[in-house]
Amino acid sequence: MTHYLANHARYESIPYRRSGKSGLKLPAVSLGLWHNFGGVDRLETQRALVRCAFDHGITHFDLANNYGPPPGSAETNFGTLLRTDLAPYRDELIISSKAGYTMGPGPYGDWGSRKYLVSSLDQSLKRMGLEYVDIFYHHRPDPETPLEETMAALDHIVRSGKALYVGVSNYPADLTRRAAKILRGLGTPCLIHQPRYSMLDRWVEDGLLQALDEEGIGCIAFSPLAQGLLSDRYLGGSVPSDSRASLGVFLKPTDITPERLATLRALNDLAQGRGQTLAQMALTWVLRHQGMTSVLIGASRESQILDAVKAVNAAGLSDTEVSAIERILTKA
Ligand SMILES: NC(=O)c1ccc[n+]([C@@H]2O[C@H](COP(=O)([O-])OP(=O)(O)OC[C@H]3O[C@@H](n4cnc5c(N)ncnc54)[C@H](OP(=O)(O)O)[C@@H]3O)[C@@H](O)[C@H]2O)c1
Repeated sequence: MTHYLANHARYESIPYRRSGKSGLKLPAVSLGLWHNFGGVDRLETQRALVRCAFDHGITHFDLANNYGPPPGSAETNFGTLLRTDLAPYRDELIISSKAGYTMGPGPYGDWGSRKYLVSSLDQSLKRMGLEYVDIFYHHRPDPETPLEETMAALDHIVRSGKALYVGVSNYPADLTRRAAKILRGLGTPCLIHQPRYSMLDRWVEDGLLQALDEEGIGCIAFSPLAQGLLSDRYLGGSVPSDSRASLGVFLKPTDITPERLATLRALNDLAQGRGQTLAQMALTWVLRHQGMTSVLIGASRESQILDAVKAVNAAGLSDTEVSAIERILTKA
Protein backbone atom coordinates (compact mmCIF):
# COMPACT_ATOMS: atom_id res chain seq x y z
CA MET A 1 0.00 0.00 0.00
CA THR A 2 1.45 3.33 -1.07
CA HIS A 3 0.94 6.45 1.04
CA TYR A 4 -2.07 8.40 -0.23
CA LEU A 5 -1.89 12.06 -1.08
CA ALA A 6 -5.13 13.30 -2.64
CA ASN A 7 -5.06 14.87 -6.10
CA HIS A 8 -4.60 18.61 -5.54
CA ALA A 9 -6.88 19.35 -8.53
CA ARG A 10 -9.74 17.22 -7.14
CA TYR A 11 -12.23 20.06 -7.01
CA GLU A 12 -11.83 20.79 -10.70
CA SER A 13 -13.43 17.53 -11.87
CA ILE A 14 -17.15 17.71 -11.18
CA PRO A 15 -19.92 20.14 -10.24
CA TYR A 16 -21.54 20.31 -6.81
CA ARG A 17 -25.27 20.72 -6.33
CA ARG A 18 -27.17 22.09 -3.35
CA SER A 19 -29.34 19.60 -1.48
CA GLY A 20 -32.79 21.16 -1.48
CA LYS A 21 -32.90 24.40 0.49
CA SER A 22 -30.06 23.38 2.81
CA GLY A 23 -26.55 24.75 3.10
CA LEU A 24 -25.02 21.46 1.98
CA LYS A 25 -23.75 20.79 -1.53
CA LEU A 26 -23.11 17.27 -2.77
CA PRO A 27 -21.01 16.15 -5.71
CA ALA A 28 -23.22 15.55 -8.78
CA VAL A 29 -22.04 11.94 -8.61
CA SER A 30 -21.63 10.04 -5.34
CA LEU A 31 -20.23 6.58 -4.64
CA GLY A 32 -22.25 3.91 -2.86
CA LEU A 33 -20.69 0.96 -1.04
CA TRP A 34 -23.59 -1.49 -1.25
CA HIS A 35 -21.68 -3.88 -3.53
CA ASN A 36 -17.93 -4.57 -3.92
CA PHE A 37 -17.00 -3.34 -0.42
CA GLY A 38 -17.88 -6.37 1.68
CA GLY A 39 -15.76 -8.76 3.66
CA VAL A 40 -15.82 -11.03 0.61
CA ASP A 41 -14.21 -8.38 -1.62
CA ARG A 42 -10.53 -7.41 -1.99
CA LEU A 43 -9.58 -4.44 0.19
CA GLU A 44 -7.00 -3.25 -2.36
CA THR A 45 -9.72 -2.91 -5.03
CA GLN A 46 -11.86 -1.01 -2.55
CA ARG A 47 -8.94 1.29 -1.77
CA ALA A 48 -8.38 2.00 -5.47
CA LEU A 49 -12.08 2.81 -5.97
CA VAL A 50 -12.25 5.15 -2.99
CA ARG A 51 -9.01 6.93 -3.98
CA CYS A 52 -10.17 7.27 -7.58
CA ALA A 53 -13.48 8.76 -6.45
CA PHE A 54 -11.99 11.27 -4.02
CA ASP A 55 -9.26 12.24 -6.49
CA HIS A 56 -12.06 13.25 -8.87
CA GLY A 57 -13.96 15.33 -6.35
CA ILE A 58 -16.43 12.66 -5.26
CA THR A 59 -16.66 13.72 -1.65
CA HIS A 60 -19.75 11.70 -0.79
CA PHE A 61 -19.63 8.01 0.20
CA ASP A 62 -22.90 6.28 0.98
CA LEU A 63 -23.15 3.32 3.35
CA ALA A 64 -25.72 1.50 5.44
CA ASN A 65 -25.56 -0.73 8.49
CA ASN A 66 -26.32 -3.86 6.45
CA TYR A 67 -23.95 -3.40 3.47
CA GLY A 68 -21.56 -6.29 2.96
CA PRO A 69 -21.72 -9.23 2.82
CA PRO A 70 -21.56 -10.00 5.64
CA PRO A 71 -23.76 -7.16 6.95
CA GLY A 72 -21.65 -4.45 8.56
CA SER A 73 -18.47 -5.35 6.70
CA ALA A 74 -18.69 -2.46 4.20
CA GLU A 75 -18.63 -0.04 7.14
CA THR A 76 -15.73 -1.93 8.73
CA ASN A 77 -13.77 -1.81 5.45
CA PHE A 78 -14.56 1.84 4.88
CA GLY A 79 -13.39 2.49 8.46
CA THR A 80 -10.07 0.87 7.55
CA LEU A 81 -9.74 3.04 4.43
CA LEU A 82 -10.61 6.12 6.46
CA ARG A 83 -7.80 5.33 8.87
CA THR A 84 -5.18 4.45 6.24
CA ASP A 85 -6.09 6.89 3.44
CA LEU A 86 -8.76 9.46 4.08
CA ALA A 87 -8.29 10.48 7.73
CA PRO A 88 -6.55 13.79 6.87
CA TYR A 89 -9.53 14.66 4.65
CA ARG A 90 -12.39 13.93 7.10
CA ASP A 91 -13.69 17.50 6.92
CA GLU A 92 -13.93 17.20 3.11
CA LEU A 93 -16.07 14.07 3.26
CA ILE A 94 -19.82 13.53 3.40
CA ILE A 95 -20.31 10.05 4.85
CA SER A 96 -23.80 8.64 5.18
CA SER A 97 -25.24 5.58 6.83
CA LYS A 98 -28.73 4.17 7.33
CA ALA A 99 -30.84 1.82 9.40
CA GLY A 100 -34.23 0.37 8.58
CA TYR A 101 -33.66 -3.01 6.94
CA THR A 102 -32.94 -6.22 8.83
CA MET A 103 -29.63 -5.98 10.66
CA GLY A 104 -29.89 -8.08 13.78
CA PRO A 105 -32.01 -10.77 15.40
CA GLY A 106 -35.04 -9.97 17.51
CA PRO A 107 -37.35 -6.96 17.57
CA TYR A 108 -34.58 -4.30 17.92
CA GLY A 109 -32.63 -5.05 14.75
CA ASP A 110 -35.12 -3.99 12.10
CA TRP A 111 -37.63 -1.32 10.96
CA GLY A 112 -37.97 2.11 12.59
CA SER A 113 -38.11 2.20 16.38
CA ARG A 114 -36.03 4.71 18.30
CA LYS A 115 -34.36 1.73 20.01
CA TYR A 116 -33.17 0.30 16.67
CA LEU A 117 -32.09 3.53 14.99
CA VAL A 118 -30.04 4.87 17.89
CA SER A 119 -28.28 1.58 18.70
CA SER A 120 -27.66 0.83 15.03
CA LEU A 121 -25.99 4.17 14.42
CA ASP A 122 -23.80 3.63 17.49
CA GLN A 123 -22.65 0.34 15.96
CA SER A 124 -22.06 1.97 12.54
CA LEU A 125 -19.92 4.69 14.13
CA LYS A 126 -17.84 2.04 15.92
CA ARG A 127 -17.33 0.05 12.71
CA MET A 128 -16.20 3.13 10.80
CA GLY A 129 -14.23 4.61 13.69
CA LEU A 130 -16.14 7.87 13.39
CA GLU A 131 -17.54 10.28 15.95
CA TYR A 132 -20.37 11.29 13.64
CA VAL A 133 -21.79 10.63 10.19
CA ASP A 134 -22.72 13.52 7.95
CA ILE A 135 -26.10 12.12 6.93
CA PHE A 136 -28.15 9.47 8.71
CA TYR A 137 -31.17 7.96 6.94
CA HIS A 138 -34.19 5.98 7.92
CA HIS A 139 -33.76 3.32 5.21
CA ARG A 140 -37.39 2.37 4.53
CA PRO A 141 -40.86 3.19 5.88
CA ASP A 142 -42.05 1.17 8.87
CA PRO A 143 -45.78 0.45 8.68
CA GLU A 144 -46.03 -0.20 12.45
CA THR A 145 -43.87 2.33 14.28
CA PRO A 146 -45.50 5.78 14.61
CA LEU A 147 -43.81 8.16 12.18
CA GLU A 148 -43.49 10.62 15.09
CA GLU A 149 -41.23 8.15 16.95
CA THR A 150 -38.96 7.51 13.96
CA MET A 151 -38.61 11.21 13.20
CA ALA A 152 -38.01 12.05 16.88
CA ALA A 153 -35.22 9.44 16.83
CA LEU A 154 -33.62 11.22 13.83
CA ASP A 155 -33.94 14.57 15.62
CA HIS A 156 -32.39 13.07 18.77
CA ILE A 157 -29.51 11.64 16.72
CA VAL A 158 -28.67 15.07 15.33
CA ARG A 159 -28.96 16.72 18.74
CA SER A 160 -26.68 14.11 20.30
CA GLY A 161 -24.00 15.00 17.73
CA LYS A 162 -23.97 11.61 16.01
CA ALA A 163 -25.18 12.95 12.65
CA LEU A 164 -25.07 16.40 11.10
CA TYR A 165 -28.12 15.91 8.87
CA VAL A 166 -30.90 13.38 8.42
CA GLY A 167 -32.85 11.99 5.50
CA VAL A 168 -35.30 9.31 4.48
CA SER A 169 -35.07 6.61 1.85
CA ASN A 170 -37.72 4.71 -0.09
CA TYR A 171 -40.52 6.83 1.43
CA PRO A 172 -43.50 7.47 -0.86
CA ALA A 173 -44.54 11.09 -1.54
CA ASP A 174 -47.31 11.42 1.07
CA LEU A 175 -45.23 9.90 3.86
CA THR A 176 -42.29 12.11 2.89
CA ARG A 177 -44.46 15.19 3.29
CA ARG A 178 -45.62 14.02 6.71
CA ALA A 179 -42.07 13.17 7.80
CA ALA A 180 -40.81 16.56 6.60
CA LYS A 181 -43.50 18.35 8.59
CA ILE A 182 -42.72 16.45 11.79
CA LEU A 183 -38.98 17.05 11.40
CA ARG A 184 -39.53 20.76 10.70
CA GLY A 185 -41.61 20.98 13.86
CA LEU A 186 -38.78 19.40 15.84
CA GLY A 187 -36.25 21.87 14.36
CA THR A 188 -34.26 19.29 12.36
CA PRO A 189 -35.08 19.72 8.67
CA CYS A 190 -35.12 16.72 6.36
CA LEU A 191 -32.00 17.23 4.21
CA ILE A 192 -32.50 14.66 1.50
CA HIS A 193 -34.48 11.74 0.15
CA GLN A 194 -32.79 8.66 -1.36
CA PRO A 195 -35.10 6.89 -3.83
CA ARG A 196 -34.39 4.40 -6.61
CA TYR A 197 -34.56 6.20 -9.95
CA SER A 198 -33.43 5.32 -13.45
CA MET A 199 -34.78 5.12 -16.99
CA LEU A 200 -36.05 1.66 -16.01
CA ASP A 201 -37.75 2.69 -12.75
CA ARG A 202 -39.52 6.04 -12.82
CA TRP A 203 -41.84 5.90 -9.78
CA VAL A 204 -40.44 9.16 -8.35
CA GLU A 205 -41.92 11.09 -11.28
CA ASP A 206 -45.38 10.28 -9.94
CA GLY A 207 -45.48 12.83 -7.10
CA LEU A 208 -42.26 12.34 -5.13
CA LEU A 209 -40.09 14.82 -7.06
CA GLN A 210 -42.82 17.42 -6.76
CA ALA A 211 -43.13 16.82 -3.01
CA LEU A 212 -39.37 17.20 -2.57
CA ASP A 213 -39.38 20.42 -4.52
CA GLU A 214 -42.23 21.87 -2.47
CA GLU A 215 -40.67 20.76 0.82
CA GLY A 216 -37.19 22.03 -0.11
CA ILE A 217 -35.67 18.55 0.26
CA GLY A 218 -32.79 17.32 -1.91
CA CYS A 219 -32.79 14.08 -3.88
CA ILE A 220 -30.03 11.53 -4.43
CA ALA A 221 -31.03 8.81 -6.90
CA PHE A 222 -29.78 5.29 -6.16
CA SER A 223 -29.22 2.59 -8.79
CA PRO A 224 -29.31 5.18 -11.60
CA LEU A 225 -27.83 2.51 -13.90
CA ALA A 226 -30.42 -0.08 -12.81
CA GLN A 227 -27.52 -2.01 -11.22
CA GLY A 228 -25.58 -2.00 -14.49
CA LEU A 229 -28.37 -2.86 -16.94
CA LEU A 230 -28.09 0.67 -18.32
CA SER A 231 -24.55 0.15 -19.53
CA ASP A 232 -22.70 -1.78 -22.21
CA ARG A 233 -22.25 -4.72 -19.82
CA TYR A 234 -25.10 -6.88 -21.12
CA LEU A 235 -25.67 -5.48 -24.64
CA GLY A 236 -24.04 -8.50 -26.27
CA GLY A 237 -26.79 -10.70 -24.87
CA SER A 238 -24.60 -12.68 -22.47
CA VAL A 239 -23.83 -12.24 -18.77
CA PRO A 240 -20.12 -11.53 -18.14
CA SER A 241 -18.75 -13.71 -15.34
CA ASP A 242 -17.49 -10.66 -13.43
CA SER A 243 -20.81 -8.75 -13.58
CA ARG A 244 -23.43 -8.18 -10.92
CA ALA A 245 -26.02 -10.20 -12.83
CA SER A 246 -23.69 -13.20 -12.68
CA LEU A 247 -24.10 -13.19 -8.88
CA GLY A 248 -27.83 -13.68 -9.42
CA VAL A 249 -28.84 -12.07 -6.10
CA PHE A 250 -30.11 -8.50 -6.56
CA LEU A 251 -29.78 -8.51 -10.35
CA LYS A 252 -30.51 -11.79 -12.09
CA PRO A 253 -29.72 -13.11 -15.57
CA THR A 254 -33.50 -13.51 -15.99
CA ASP A 255 -33.85 -9.69 -15.69
CA ILE A 256 -32.15 -9.45 -19.09
CA THR A 257 -35.09 -10.38 -21.30
CA PRO A 258 -35.09 -10.03 -25.11
CA GLU A 259 -37.52 -7.05 -24.80
CA ARG A 260 -35.24 -5.35 -22.30
CA LEU A 261 -32.20 -5.96 -24.49
CA ALA A 262 -34.02 -4.33 -27.41
CA THR A 263 -34.71 -1.26 -25.26
CA LEU A 264 -31.13 -1.10 -24.01
CA ARG A 265 -29.75 -1.41 -27.54
CA ALA A 266 -32.00 1.37 -28.82
CA LEU A 267 -30.90 3.59 -25.93
CA ASN A 268 -27.28 2.69 -26.62
CA ASP A 269 -27.62 3.77 -30.27
CA LEU A 270 -28.99 7.11 -29.09
CA ALA A 271 -26.16 7.51 -26.57
CA GLN A 272 -23.53 6.78 -29.20
CA GLY A 273 -25.15 9.34 -31.45
CA ARG A 274 -24.42 11.99 -28.85
CA GLY A 275 -20.92 10.71 -28.16
CA GLN A 276 -21.73 9.06 -24.82
CA THR A 277 -21.75 5.54 -23.45
CA LEU A 278 -25.15 4.22 -22.41
CA ALA A 279 -24.11 4.48 -18.75
CA GLN A 280 -23.12 8.12 -19.24
CA MET A 281 -26.40 9.00 -20.95
CA ALA A 282 -28.37 7.23 -18.21
CA LEU A 283 -26.71 9.46 -15.61
CA THR A 284 -27.13 12.62 -17.69
CA TRP A 285 -30.82 11.70 -18.00
CA VAL A 286 -31.32 11.40 -14.21
CA LEU A 287 -29.47 14.67 -13.61
CA ARG A 288 -31.74 16.54 -16.05
CA HIS A 289 -34.06 17.32 -13.12
CA GLN A 290 -33.16 20.58 -11.46
CA GLY A 291 -33.99 19.19 -8.02
CA MET A 292 -31.71 16.16 -8.46
CA THR A 293 -28.78 16.71 -6.10
CA SER A 294 -26.66 13.70 -7.04
CA VAL A 295 -26.61 10.35 -8.80
CA LEU A 296 -25.53 7.58 -6.46
CA ILE A 297 -23.63 4.98 -8.43
CA GLY A 298 -21.93 1.74 -7.54
CA ALA A 299 -18.67 0.65 -9.16
CA SER A 300 -16.66 -2.53 -9.47
CA ARG A 301 -13.73 -0.82 -11.24
CA GLU A 302 -12.19 2.62 -11.58
CA SER A 303 -13.21 3.05 -15.23
CA GLN A 304 -16.87 3.08 -14.12
CA ILE A 305 -16.20 5.98 -11.78
CA LEU A 306 -14.43 7.84 -14.59
CA ASP A 307 -17.42 7.17 -16.88
CA ALA A 308 -19.67 8.84 -14.32
CA VAL A 309 -17.32 11.80 -13.93
CA LYS A 310 -17.51 12.31 -17.70
CA ALA A 311 -21.29 12.04 -17.61
CA VAL A 312 -21.78 14.79 -15.05
CA ASN A 313 -19.67 17.10 -17.18
CA ALA A 314 -21.49 16.29 -20.42
CA ALA A 315 -23.88 18.65 -22.19
CA GLY A 316 -27.46 18.28 -20.99
CA LEU A 317 -29.99 16.43 -23.13
CA SER A 318 -31.86 18.46 -25.73
CA ASP A 319 -35.68 18.37 -25.82
CA THR A 320 -35.40 16.24 -28.97
CA GLU A 321 -33.14 13.73 -27.21
CA VAL A 322 -35.41 13.57 -24.15
CA SER A 323 -38.38 12.87 -26.45
CA ALA A 324 -36.46 10.20 -28.33
CA ILE A 325 -35.60 8.48 -25.03
CA GLU A 326 -39.24 8.79 -23.98
CA ARG A 327 -40.36 7.06 -27.17
CA ILE A 328 -37.95 4.16 -26.60
CA LEU A 329 -39.02 3.76 -22.98
CA THR A 330 -42.74 3.89 -23.69
CA LYS A 331 -42.33 1.25 -26.40
CA ALA A 332 -40.65 -1.03 -23.84
N1 LIG B 1 -31.48 3.37 -0.10
C1 LIG B 1 -31.59 2.18 -0.62
O1 LIG B 1 -32.54 1.42 -0.32
C2 LIG B 1 -30.55 1.71 -1.60
C3 LIG B 1 -30.75 0.53 -2.34
C4 LIG B 1 -29.76 0.18 -3.28
C5 LIG B 1 -28.63 0.98 -3.44
N2 LIG B 1 -28.48 2.10 -2.67
C6 LIG B 1 -27.26 2.94 -2.78
O2 LIG B 1 -27.01 3.24 -4.14
C7 LIG B 1 -25.70 2.85 -4.49
C8 LIG B 1 -25.63 2.49 -5.94
O3 LIG B 1 -26.50 1.41 -6.22
P1 LIG B 1 -26.15 0.44 -7.42
O4 LIG B 1 -24.79 -0.13 -7.17
O5 LIG B 1 -27.29 -0.45 -7.64
O6 LIG B 1 -26.03 1.54 -8.61
P2 LIG B 1 -25.86 1.47 -10.17
O7 LIG B 1 -24.92 2.57 -10.48
O8 LIG B 1 -27.19 1.44 -10.82
O9 LIG B 1 -25.15 0.05 -10.48
C9 LIG B 1 -23.79 -0.10 -10.22
C10 LIG B 1 -23.22 -1.29 -10.99
O10 LIG B 1 -23.39 -1.09 -12.38
C11 LIG B 1 -22.20 -1.46 -13.06
N3 LIG B 1 -21.63 -0.21 -13.62
C12 LIG B 1 -21.46 0.97 -13.01
N4 LIG B 1 -20.94 1.88 -13.85
C13 LIG B 1 -20.78 1.28 -15.01
C14 LIG B 1 -20.28 1.70 -16.26
N5 LIG B 1 -19.85 2.95 -16.44
N6 LIG B 1 -20.25 0.82 -17.27
C15 LIG B 1 -20.67 -0.46 -17.09
N7 LIG B 1 -21.15 -0.92 -15.90
C16 LIG B 1 -21.21 -0.06 -14.89
C17 LIG B 1 -21.29 -2.11 -12.02
O11 LIG B 1 -21.66 -3.48 -11.94
P3 LIG B 1 -20.68 -4.68 -12.29
O12 LIG B 1 -20.41 -5.33 -10.99
O13 LIG B 1 -21.52 -5.56 -13.19
O14 LIG B 1 -19.45 -4.14 -12.95
C18 LIG B 1 -21.73 -1.41 -10.76
O15 LIG B 1 -21.43 -2.13 -9.60
C19 LIG B 1 -25.41 1.70 -3.52
O16 LIG B 1 -24.03 1.43 -3.37
C20 LIG B 1 -26.01 2.23 -2.26
O17 LIG B 1 -25.14 3.18 -1.68
C21 LIG B 1 -29.42 2.48 -1.77
